[in-house]
Order: sequence, then structure tokens, then C-alpha cells
Amino acid sequence: MNTADKIKLFKERKAEARLGGGESRIVKHKAQGKATARERVELFLDPGTFEEFDTFKTHRCYDFDMEKTHFYGDGVVTGCGKVNGRLVYVFAQDFTVFGGSLSETYGEKIVKIMDLALKNGAPCIGLNDSGGARIQEGIESLAGYSYIFLRNVLSSGVIPQLSAIFGPCAGGAVYSPALTDFIGMVQNNSYMFLTGPGVVKTVCHEDVTTEELGGASMHSSRSGVCDFAGASEVDVIEWLRTLLSYMPQNNMETTPFVETNDPATRRVPELNTIIPDNMNAAYDMKQLILSTVDDGIFTEIKANFAQNIIVGFARYNGRSVGIVANNPLNLAGVLDIDSSKKGARFVRFCDCFNIPVITFVDVPGFLPGTNQEFNAVILNGAKLLYAYCEATIPKITIITRKAYGGAYCVMSSKHIRGDINYAWPTSEVAVMGASGAAGVLHGRNAQSMDNPQEFLAEKVEEYQDKFSNPYVAASRGYIDDIIEPAETRIRIINALNATQDKRDTNPMKKHGNIPL
Ligand code: HXC
Repeated sequence: MNTADKIKLFKERKAEARLGGGESRIVKHKAQGKATARERVELFLDPGTFEEFDTFKTHRCYDFDMEKTHFYGDGVVTGCGKVNGRLVYVFAQDFTVFGGSLSETYGEKIVKIMDLALKNGAPCIGLNDSGGARIQEGIESLAGYSYIFLRNVLSSGVIPQLSAIFGPCAGGAVYSPALTDFIGMVQNNSYMFLTGPGVVKTVCHEDVTTEELGGASMHSSRSGVCDFAGASEVDVIEWLRTLLSYMPQNNMETTPFVETNDPATRRVPELNTIIPDNMNAAYDMKQLILSTVDDGIFTEIKANFAQNIIVGFARYNGRSVGIVANNPLNLAGVLDIDSSKKGARFVRFCDCFNIPVITFVDVPGFLPGTNQEFNAVILNGAKLLYAYCEATIPKITIITRKAYGGAYCVMSSKHIRGDINYAWPTSEVAVMGASGAAGVLHGRNAQSMDNPQEFLAEKVEEYQDKFSNPYVAASRGYIDDIIEPAETRIRIINALNATQDKRDTNPMKKHGNIPL
């Protein structure tokens, strides 16, 4: 074979590789509104930056007649490229090849790029669309998964790992995403479950549809597995690119700076009237966040799950921050099991990657009740406490209204290494609300009074005057300053400047033992 023929053969094989499982399977795949693995990679990366590896790798299975069917690449497209000019490693599972199922060689391909991502300190992104372990390969496939899981864990907290779910992901195909930092799914066209509806019917005698069992709406609102449910694959890919824009490349770097025209000295006058006179009335915490961050841009995480807490990324004067805020519009912003888990995981992510956390506090306490206690609100609430306590990133806290009891302690209080803690004049830093306190302290006495209601009302007022304000906490130095709400953006930016070179450490240890 002469050189020209060799080049021709190479090009033919390359073209064949680009077709994955073949034209007819691609047609079927696209008919379901799905892009191919290569199209997804191209959409995700900056144009022309994809560098592919292992294009010609094939499986080594000889069982079940598998030796008769080989596809170049073996069902996963792997390599590296750039997102907004920064290096990332990526793999995209190809459902047209054996349902995107994972073989020994397919596992090796993913492991190769995970190792490169870790060694080179660059994010690793998985675009998942897979029926799980390749059934024909049995234990080799399980080994392949296990090697990937191990790398997910070793990379955790060293490089950002993001996952998109673009099809039916079953079995082992969901555990690797679960070990990554964030998961995006496509509404009505992607699923995550350990076993599908058929197995559920056989084992549990339950009738459930694929969508009900593992669709994006269930996982983004109920299980909390999914961080973002996009209307389309393009939406999810845009979300991944946006997330990366807030993150450093690895845990040794600081976050990228993004130029803004939003002045650092911008007052937000409407915040002076956002708190209703009725201290139990709700107001829009998201509006508060949007009005203070750069250009009104806030990328919310898990927007539909545990809505009593709001978490997400934004920038102040060009610097990335994580925002955690109680949400008075949902369950009065109370902390409970789900909101504690959501907040804790987010704070820990920010701490891994040097992203300062801004905490807006308006919390009446932890949610009482048998449901919460039976399901271990003690352990789960402690997750958020643990996360804030161990975090050594800059922690800036703004109390807008209620900061009661244990929830006050948890929400990045001074006592657990909050760096700069501000309170609005409308805030109430106390063990509990005034009427609850008056009831506990004076309820019995009130019963012997001629007019118990009037007596209790007086005691409520007394408690309110004494404790339902920020001045007692400020007099102790637990609050660093009481600030005008309109100045919140300015004061946060000043606080970020004052803490930007913060260094803090925890005692040397193998790792802590977070209450799981
Ligand atoms: C080999 C597979 C496969 C698999 C699908 N295919 N899953 N081949 N191993 N795991 C093949 C099909 O045979 C078919 O081949 C093609 O992919 C498309 O599959 P369909 O079933 O036609 O597609 P669809 O109707 O969309 O259903 C998708 C699906 C379903 C829901 C994912 O295929 C399915 O339930 N697959 C099995 C899921 C599963 O049980 N996986 C193993 C989990 S155990 P042809 O040639 O017809 O195109 C596991 C253990 C790891 O993962 C645990 C680690 C902790």
C-alpha cells in the first residue's frame, strides 16, 4: 500500500469512526430530539478546539458473538478542548453504539482523560447517555466503572467535575455523575435510575413511568439529584459553560475575574423598603440578590428543590461568589432536612474551589415536627453547620431580618468563623421570635392574670424592644456593623476586598467525619 492509499484508508476509517453506531442508528437517535455525542462535544467546546483521543479503540469481547461487531471508539468520544479559552477534558457517551453501554475498553478511555484532567489541573466534564454496564462484558464492565468511580472521588475537590445527562442513564451510568459536583438534565428526554420501571415492577410491584421514576422534573424537584433541568440539550450545555465561568481550573487557583460595567459604588435604594413592616410577611429574597450582584446575573443551583434556601453563583465587582440565602417566600425560609443538605453541599463546593460565600440570613429556625425528627433533621441540619464551620474561604454574612436560635448559629455566624458579619437595622438576632419567647417565659404567669392577652402582649413588646434587633449582637461584636440596606452591594464588595487574601486552615487530619 503506498502513502496515498494509507492516507485514504486513514480518512475512510476516521469517517467511519465519526458515524459511531452507523447511519441508521443516528437517524433513530436524532428522531428522539437528541444530538450525537460528537455534536454535543462540538457544541460544548469553543469552535475548532476539540482534540480527540482513542478514536480507533475497539472492544475486546469475544462472548455473545461480540467479536463480529466492532465500532471505532467503542461508544464514547473522549478528548480535550477549550471552554471560554480555558482547558477542559471531556467525554461524551454515544448511545448509537451498544446503547452507550460501558465496556472494559470504553472505561479505559474515560479513565485516560480523567487522569489527564487531574494531572493537568483542568475540569473534567461528562456528557452522559448510556444504558449502564455493557451486559455482554459482565465483570470487565463493573471493573471499568469502579476505576472511574475511584477517579471521581480522587479528583473531588481538586478539579471541578460536571455532568450532563442526555438520555436514559441506568445502573453504573448514574453513579459516576452522582460523584461529580453538578448534574444538568434535559426535561422530558433524559432519565437517571439504578433500575428501570421494568425491574421496579418485578421487584417492588410498583407501576411507574420512566419519567416519574427518573425524569428531570422528579430529580430537580424531589430527589435533589439534579442541579439544573434545561428545556433542551443546548440549554444544558450553555449552563455547563456558564458554571465553568465561575470556577477556577483547580483547587490551587483563584476564580477567573470577569470585567463588569456595574459600579462597585452602586447603591440599591429599593432595599431600604424591601422588608415589610409586618415582620412575618414575606418578601422576594431572589430580587434582593439580583439587585446587588453584578449586572443582575445570578446562576441559581437546584432552583426547584428545597426552595426554602436559595443557592447559586454570581459576581461582585468581577469576582465569583457563591450565594446562600434563606427564602422567606417558601416555608418562611425555615431550615429543614433538604435545605440543609442543599446548602451544605453548595458551601463545601465553594470551599473546595476558593469561591467566597455570601450568606443572606432571614431564618426563623429549624422546622419542628415528627416528619423532620424521624428523618434525622438532627444529622442533616448538622451537615450545614459542619460545612460552614470547616470552610476556610472568605465568609461574608448579611442578616436582613430574622436570625433565630440554632439557625442563627448555623448561617455563617461570627462564632463559626464568619469573617465579616453585617446586619440590616431591620434584623432580629435572638434565641427565638418575641411572641414565642414571651409565651415560654410568661405563659404560666399569664394564666393567673385578669387579662392574660394584654399581659402577654406587653411581654412580647418588652422582649422585642430588648432582643428583637441587631444592637445587642452588635454591642458584643457578634455583628461587625449595622448597615443601611441600600449600601449592601457596596459593603459586600468592600468586605470581599478586605478578605481577598485570606488564609485560614483547619487542624491537620486525614479527613473530617461530616454527619452523613
Ligand atoms: C449492552 C445495551 C445496553 C447494555 C442498551 N443496549 N443497554 N447493550 N448493554 N447495558 C443496546 C440495546 O440492546 C440496543 O441494541 C441499543 O442498545 C438501544 O437500546 P434500546 O433498548 O433499543 O433503547 P431504549 O428503548 O431507548 O432503552 C434504553 C434503555 C434500555 C432504558 C437504557 O436499553 C435498558 O434498559 N438497557 C439496560 C439497562 C441496564 O439494565 N443496564 C445494566 C445496569 S447494571 P440494538 O443493537 O438493538 O440497537 C450496571 C451495573 C454497574 O450498570 C453498577 C456499578 C455500581
